[in-house]
Amino acid sequence: MMTAIPTLLLCFLSLNHVSAQATQKQIRDFEVHKRQDCDTQTNCNLFSGKWVHDPSYPLYEPSECPYVSKEFDCKANGRPDSGYQEWRWQPNGCDVPRFSARRLLEKLKGKKVAFVGDSITQNQFQSLVCLVYKEFPTTFVPTSHLNNKFISTEYDFSIEFFWSPFLVDLEITNEMKVILHVDEIQNNSVHWTADILVFESSKWWPEVLGRQRWDIAMEGQKNYTDMKPLVAYKKALTTWSQWVSSNVNPQTLVFFRSNSYSHYNRKRRCASEKKPIQDPSYNPHPTVYSAILQQVLSTTKFPVKFLNTSLNSALRKDGHPSMYTNLNNIGPEHQDCTHWCLPGIPDSWNQLLYATLLGA
Ligand SMILES: *[C@@H]1O[C@H](CO)[C@@H](O)[C@H](O)[C@H]1NC(C)=O
Ligand SMILES: *[C@@H]1O[C@H](CO)[C@@H](O)[C@H](O)[C@H]1NC(C)=O
Ligand SMILES: *[C@@H]1O[C@H](CO)[C@@H](O)[C@H](O)[C@H]1NC(C)=O
Repeated sequence: MMTAIPTLLLCFLSLNHVSAQATQKQIRDFEVHKRQDCDTQTNCNLFSGKWVHDPSYPLYEPSECPYVSKEFDCKANGRPDSGYQEWRWQPNGCDVPRFSARRLLEKLKGKKVAFVGDSITQNQFQSLVCLVYKEFPTTFVPTSHLNNKFISTEYDFSIEFFWSPFLVDLEITNEMKVILHVDEIQNNSVHWTADILVFESSKWWPEVLGRQRWDIAMEGQKNYTDMKPLVAYKKALTTWSQWVSSNVNPQTLVFFRSNSYSHYNRKRRCASEKKPIQDPSYNPHPTVYSAILQQVLSTTKFPVKFLNTSLNSALRKDGHPSMYTNLNNIGPEHQDCTHWCLPGIPDSWNQLLYATLLGA
């Protein structure tokens, strides 16, 4: 028997309404528009909610998935507590259906999913791989030793990860200079052919990470050594937005995930955190990039679906690897309060993606 698909879902930005030169007022009006759409159509914003304790989680045990990178495999790295795995994301206005890989693959038979972004997106990619692998351990397999692409031999379905932390093209010259091509995306995007594309770009932009990752920002034939990171970010996102609007097949579902929060305390640590923030009035500080992201997405012609994981991730100070990561990468005195243990928070992003895909 078919169970009815819950009529939750889809309180995404509908992005077509705002003209190319959106003013602040237009963006505010658009925000109001958005809320009304949510109220009338679905009553539910999947991204506004809280974490509730639910011992029926995690959806897979750490030992059940061989494809988690060492840096995210907190249990194997000795993390003693496991309470951080037992939380479920609960939107305020509706329930998210429990993940079923079979249902997902039936829906996406013959389709390709691609994740594009930085290592947080890799975190999310591995989470989806594990969620599917748990139910299909013999027919869901990596296509190479790099484990960046998996296929289901039963459903002709694939999931792939493309590392592209700025989205736009990055070039390393023979002199080892790093050039960020803020108006070029061709070399990266040539690989992004999929039926479902999930993008993200945040941690490599310097105000987030602390230091600039490029020597030269190049636009047209001009070289800039002093282009402000926020300016470069806006140009790069705009390049991406134009690429999506003029190159992506309208049948493709395109998602953009917002930033994922880090939780470094004054000592640059997070290891003592054992529980999510549960204050219902808690509102994360918007990053300096979020207004630009919102503006670019709202002027993108292609109807991009926005996965707003800001609040969801900001509440989870307990979910990072901290010292239970690959210490070879960061050294024993450092902690990773940026990425996420798996199983963990990115599983919830994939559940939101799943809920959306079932409804689409
Ligand atoms: C794109 O790739 C071509 C061929 O490898 C290379 O010559 C060119 O410099 C690249 N462009 C950018 C913007 O990275
Ligand atoms: C920009 O920088 C690159 C790398 O250093 C160099 O090859 C190129 O000639 C420069 N272009 C201009 C117009 O200065
Ligand atoms: C994403 O969610 C946060 C926290 O709920 C909110 O402050 C922010 O405005 C949202 N971003 C967008 C672009 O809607």
